[in-house]
Amino acid sequence: MPKPYKTPEWETAGFNHIWLPYTQMQTAPLPLPVSSASGVRITLADGSELIDGIASWWCACHGYQHPHLTKQISRQLDTLSHIMFAGLAHEQAYTLARRLVSITPKGLSRAFFSDSGSTAVEVAMKMAVQFWSNRQEPDKRKFICFRNGYHGDTMGGMSLADPETGMHRALNRYVPKQYVFDIPNNGTDLAALAKSLKEIRETVAGLVIEPLIQAAGGMKFHSPQMLAEIHRLCKQHRILFIADEIATGFGRTGAMFACLEADITPDMMCLGKALTGGMIGLAATLATEEVFAGFLSDRLETALMHGPTFMANPLACAAANASLDLFEQEPRIAQIRAIETQLQEELRPCHRLKNVADVRVKGAIGVVQLSNASGEYILALRQRFIEEGVWLRPFSDVVYIMPAFTIATAELTRLTDAVFKALAA
Ligand SMILES: Cc1ncc(COP(=O)(O)O)c(C=O)c1O
Repeated sequence: MPKPYKTPEWETAGFNHIWLPYTQMQTAPLPLPVSSASGVRITLADGSELIDGIASWWCACHGYQHPHLTKQISRQLDTLSHIMFAGLAHEQAYTLARRLVSITPKGLSRAFFSDSGSTAVEVAMKMAVQFWSNRQEPDKRKFICFRNGYHGDTMGGMSLADPETGMHRALNRYVPKQYVFDIPNNGTDLAALAKSLKEIRETVAGLVIEPLIQAAGGMKFHSPQMLAEIHRLCKQHRILFIADEIATGFGRTGAMFACLEADITPDMMCLGKALTGGMIGLAATLATEEVFAGFLSDRLETALMHGPTFMANPLACAAANASLDLFEQEPRIAQIRAIETQLQEELRPCHRLKNVADVRVKGAIGVVQLSNASGEYILALRQRFIEEGVWLRPFSDVVYIMPAFTIATAELTRLTDAVFKALAA
């Protein structure tokens, strides 16, 4: 039986004035009113609790309200909460840029800050197109992307999503057309991709990929070897390789960054989500010195014309620096390995369920792919999980767990149990 959630006054008063994301507002059920969150526990307005299995779209990697994060943000709040980032500089942003460069693949040397993952992707696309146009190669302005990919909801990011299965299909005629390929599975597919890249290379600015795991487009995995091969092809054909690590970055796949597992340095890398430990919106587009140098001249026209008002916000940068402290001071990578082992063991029984096509785990990501999943079934599963006291949001044909890295063993078992029970029902 569904729990009788008490609807607080602010929700009933405000609901007719709010527009929710990815939501058919005519038919959607009311969202659950949250009063607070701590660790991996979300407290609802009626005092009941849910164990969070998806860390607020994968960003709250240290759990909610981690004391080090809240303390460092509060300290920053006392001195400088915001300042424009043109003509003025501040310590948190410069320190963060230096620290990001020191932990990402060797060769990335510059960080451009923005305010959301989608914007970080837009910035990378602008950088790529202008890099070539500054070099008098203006025909190199299209992008290569992959089926099942997702890179955000802004115009450029949408153009890189899967045009058939992606969630922006209604806008297909409006967004720019890009080259869409399958991520190769084997040598034959790779040879076919190599042939295509050779044919189109003079029209291509960059290739954008979610390294190792395509997340929002279906939680699909590929190998570090294949990633390295795709990177090699880009180098060979003078195509800028853009790693969108917005979902995979900061430990999610088991390494600090997925590109490190393939031992590659992308020309650009997009970061967001867990960058601030999920505390405040912040994103970064990192670039190599070669890309950066492509914008240098004595003319403004060759400079990067981008500058969001809240770029490098000091509170957000303080949160990101504090989050990096935690990666240094607490055993995050060991925790991720332990989550991986536990997910492998505890999701394995799902293999024998009738409607399960695949179970796969990598790092702190556990995926159960269904053979058949109608929209109604997915909505029913979501409701079922709430009744089980867990917060999981299956989509398309996947049920997935991507918890905070600080989740306790017993809490993770509550999540895997709920998945098994709901799918077995
Ligand atoms: C790989 C990837 N790129 C870009 C984005 C967009 O990030 P944001 O939602 O912060 O704009 C997402 C969000 O899910 C993502 O997973």
